[in-house]
Amino acid sequence: MTSADDYRSALEALDRILNRESEADEVLRRAVDLLHDRFDEYSWVGIYVVEGDDLVLGPWKGPEATEHVRIPIGQGICGAAAASGRTEIVDDVNADERYLACFVSTRSEIVVPIAYEGRVVGEIDIDSDLPAAFGDADREFLERVAGLVSQQCLVAWDTGGVAWRDVS
Ligand code: SME
Repeated sequence: MTSADDYRSALEALDRILNRESEADEVLRRAVDLLHDRFDEYSWVGIYVVEGDDLVLGPWKGPEATEHVRIPIGQGICGAAAASGRTEIVDDVNADERYLACFVSTRSEIVVPIAYEGRVVGEIDIDSDLPAAFGDADREFLERVAGLVSQQCLVAWDTGGVAWRDVS
């Protein structure tokens, strides 16, 4: 069972990564590793980055690779979260007709958009082998993680990243 301390200590660890690491890709990769390694119920963790009208898979960690390395915005649970800009929690993926299956073991999923100045630039996608693995505490925690890595995700965003970087 995840405690408030687990979430707090993971946020502190992420903060240390952000302070030490200057490469955006490396920050995203380490953030994925941290989420995967610290939370037992997070079976597969990936970050998708928006490229044009698609979500493109960036760093991921889990037992197997997914075939869904490019997902049109609007398709699947990932595409729904990117289109709306709102977190999606699916307690039973097999009961959700939007679901794009990746792994037979997956039972539930959370997708948290990563937004920078109001624009979705990517998202965190987590699959769990446990049913209904994600609750409000996970949502709150992962939305904070998304906020913390939003600038790094923006740098990895190819279709406007340069312009956005010039503004900051
Ligand atoms: N299940 C997702 C696709 C990505 S995999 O989970 C890695 C979806 O329905 O959009």
